[in-house]
Amino acid sequence: MDKFVIRGGNPLLGTIRVSGAKNSALPCMAAAILTEDEVTLENIPQVRDIETERKLLTSMGAEVELGYGRAQHRTTISCRVLSDPTAKYEIVKTMRASALVLGPLVARTGIARVSMPGGCAIGARPIDLHIKGLEQMGAAIAYEHGYVEARAERLKGAHILFDKITVTGTEDLLMAAVLAEGETILENAAREPEVTDLAALLTAMGAQIEGAGTSTIRVQGVEKLHGARHRINPDRIEAGTFLIAGAITGGDLCVTHCNPAHIAAVIEKLKECGVRIDTLGKDSIRVRSEGKLKTADISTEEYPGFPTDMQAQFMALVTQAEGVSQVRENIFENRFMHVQELVRMGANIRIDGRTATVRGKTPLSAAAVMCSDLRASASLVLAALVADGESILDRIYNIDRGYEHIEEKLRGVGAQIKRLGNVFSDRREPSTTVSA
Ligand code: EPZ
Repeated sequence: MDKFVIRGGNPLLGTIRVSGAKNSALPCMAAAILTEDEVTLENIPQVRDIETERKLLTSMGAEVELGYGRAQHRTTISCRVLSDPTAKYEIVKTMRASALVLGPLVARTGIARVSMPGGCAIGARPIDLHIKGLEQMGAAIAYEHGYVEARAERLKGAHILFDKITVTGTEDLLMAAVLAEGETILENAAREPEVTDLAALLTAMGAQIEGAGTSTIRVQGVEKLHGARHRINPDRIEAGTFLIAGAITGGDLCVTHCNPAHIAAVIEKLKECGVRIDTLGKDSIRVRSEGKLKTADISTEEYPGFPTDMQAQFMALVTQAEGVSQVRENIFENRFMHVQELVRMGANIRIDGRTATVRGKTPLSAAAVMCSDLRASASLVLAALVADGESILDRIYNIDRGYEHIEEKLRGVGAQIKRLGNVFSDRREPSTTVSA
């Protein structure tokens, strides 16, 4: 398996470009199921999860072109023929977001068989709210051999009140609702930019949606949807990760092709830490570290609060701040997998339930560390960029799931990072069940 070798100590200087958002691209690719026409998506990130989604759609009978030439980063999907409306275990076990095909499959074909996602690194992450919403829309649900099967002649609009705010749950049921008979109201819906991006694509396909990006989304079902072309949002978590890379290394970095409005909560916290942040126009942010980092507390919340997907990266940063910072994780029950690895590098962090107490500033020393999930891995990259010596990061396929060519992008602004392909590398897909 590939590894990263990172030698810490270089301030990151220059310009680094953000790619398209994986968590927008995944639901938008699933939305192509809803029409016989072609759907073209631009600004697709070249990451492992997109390849997994391509395999998933192809396994169901779709034709998926995926190109990453300079001008491209584009996919064109045709679901004219859906010969097998099944999301198989072999694929779902490597990417939980496969559950996003559940709603569109039932809406388009009247049947969906999706392997129930197993546990995952960051928490149980059931899909009970996805299924409960489909039942309310008239789907008959059955469970067999680890699969959930949903059937409906035609889904009916319903008033769905989510017990918990769920991003892919909102997306799944939004895609189910656009072809349902009558009106659907999604209440306590997720407000993440990825939901808004999906709604923009669905609207371009002919759906009738109001309120995307708010807690209440109203959908008037239509008979049919047509194809569309859509550009995927910039990845707000990649942008936030690069801002912290500039701050933690004491650099001066311009993060481009991003949307500053999507990471307002992260920018506010970085300013509280004494980091200099300047928004340049509508799609760039300059980050400079101005002397000693100050402490700050975070408590992860649904959008527009501080994102759980930035918690691990922020924790790496405050290990370098003078004093005590509290990091509270409210969304997932096991999202501190990075803590022990950071402690092995010299951080002083104690966990008490859902709160981690970070005492800084502690010099970090290079170590051999293990990547466990996507964002924990990003946290270890950030720590290694400032650690004394050469760190080895193992199982970096976790990073490749959601960060496009991260080592090339970081090397382009002065990081000493290289990828080591293990000569005996096992080129098979990793067998572990992974998050996101
Ligand atoms: C999405 O996951 C993202 N993944 C995650 O990003 C992100 O961390 C998460 O939203 C929260 O922002 C994608 O968009 C592909 P949830 P999702 O449903 O939708 C519970 C990354 O690193 N819940 O909003 O799976 C759940 O257990 C990944 O890019 C239920 O109980 O998250 C969690 O505690 C990691 N039942 C909470 O809700 C359900 O049916 C929020 O989960 C659904 C969710």
